[in-house]
Amino acid sequence: MGAERFVPAEADLDGLRAAAARCRGCDLYKDATQTVFGAGPADARMVIVGEVPGDQEDRKGEPFVGPAGRLLDRVLEEVGIDRSQVYLTNAVKHFKFVPAERSKRRIHKTPSRTEVVACRPWLDAELDLVRPELVVCLGAIAAKSLLGQDFRVTKERGKVVSMPDRPERALATVHPSAVLRAKDREAAYQELVADLAVAAKVLS
Ligand code: URA
Ligand code: SF4
Repeated sequence: MGAERFVPAEADLDGLRAAAARCRGCDLYKDATQTVFGAGPADARMVIVGEVPGDQEDRKGEPFVGPAGRLLDRVLEEVGIDRSQVYLTNAVKHFKFVPAERSKRRIHKTPSRTEVVACRPWLDAELDLVRPELVVCLGAIAAKSLLGQDFRVTKERGKVVSMPDRPERALATVHPSAVLRAKDREAAYQELVADLAVAAKVLS
């Protein structure tokens, strides 16, 4: 269990992506269509880490191209962050889902702690190459992977913090899908905008 033995020692991002396509570090590769590796420039100053690819990401092989990605695009634009300058990735790189009853839909499932830990070597390899100034964690899964099991997004969102085992600064906020599910969507949206405005300021 774990991605370590699939991560090449000497590789650029394209090399990592090619190797990740063959990862069997946990069982999630079995039902997913493909590995959804990170995307963006190798010299990005910001890395944004989501949870796990969704249905559309799984089909297209690209992170954040579904509904959550569209919401993220709006937020980034609003705070003046150019998405094309950001490296976007996920804590877990294969779609986890359960088939919906009586339909072909596939329902997202939250990855387990074991799967998050298994996939972490890919995230470290990406961060080691990109060396961003700031890592933005979207949601509790990304935050716990990089900031520790005890990290609470609700308490610490929107603050620049350090990571226990990495040199980069980080900032955690809620996942855009949580905004899409929120009772008061507009308020949740504005809170996400406020947190990412802090992130934008760090890089300004
Ligand atoms: N949600 C995520 O966390 N990541 C994606 O790539 C898409 C949706
Ligand atoms: Fe490997 Fe991560 Fe996919 Fe598991 S989810 S098979 S560790 S790339």
